[in-house]
Amino acid sequence: MADAVDSRLLSRVDRYIEELLVPPDAALRQGLVEAEAAGLPDIAVSPNEGKLLHLVARLVRPGRILEIGTLGGYSTTWLARALEPSGRLVTLEIDPHHAAVARRNLERAGVADRVEVRVGPAARTLRAMAAAREPPFDVVFIDADKEGYPEYLDLLLRLSRVGTVIMADNLIRGGRVLDRGSTDPGVRGLRAFNARLAAESRLDSIILPIMRDRLDGLSISIVRA
Ligand code: SAH
Ligand code: DHB
Ligand code: MG
Repeated sequence: MADAVDSRLLSRVDRYIEELLVPPDAALRQGLVEAEAAGLPDIAVSPNEGKLLHLVARLVRPGRILEIGTLGGYSTTWLARALEPSGRLVTLEIDPHHAAVARRNLERAGVADRVEVRVGPAARTLRAMAAAREPPFDVVFIDADKEGYPEYLDLLLRLSRVGTVIMADNLIRGGRVLDRGSTDPGVRGLRAFNARLAAESRLDSIILPIMRDRLDGLSISIVRA
């Protein structure tokens, strides 16, 4: 079924939208160049998805944003630019090298004063944050190891309030999530996460197809009363 998607057409349409609506940005572009030079994988969200994250976040007028999976700080920058003037973003990253590259990029983008990169396995950091009764976040973006997604969702609900917007990347994976029998741990994690979104009475959710070089998906959920 995934093979029936004309991926070249999807890429051209994605590029068309980007050229129309996502103006070139020197700091974001340089951040991707630095990330590649530092050996980071080329798996940041696309420019269009970055702008989508930014626009959705802005609707919330967020004072506190949480990200799981920093990489080189590309999506972090898009999200940090959606913060209200005195707002803060916390981003969780397991790899100290990724965190160091991200800190330089966030500095260059002029958002380092608003962003804290916390290094360590996200599940452990989230448990510590919940135990410390950190104030709830207004917007959350999940984009780290796919096996971890279901546990992150459980922990995040303890760091949310009614109205918190939770988004998660890579939920479709070229259609690989359609395979009920998949033995791939990442795909299994994503299938479990998507099922949790559907079953979770505290959330109102949708998954949007996202196109780049292949079809993927982004969820948007609102924490219910
Ligand atoms: N959000 C980024 C891309 C993140 S890629 C962007 O769009 O620009 C996924 C990141 O999650 C990688 O940097 C990886 O090191 C990190 N990661 C993987 N497992 C993790 C874990 N258990 N805890 C925290 N971060 C993790
Ligand atoms: C991949 C893509 C992502 O956006 C991500 O967060 C992790 C991995 C990938 O294509 O492998
Ligand atoms: Mg991703």
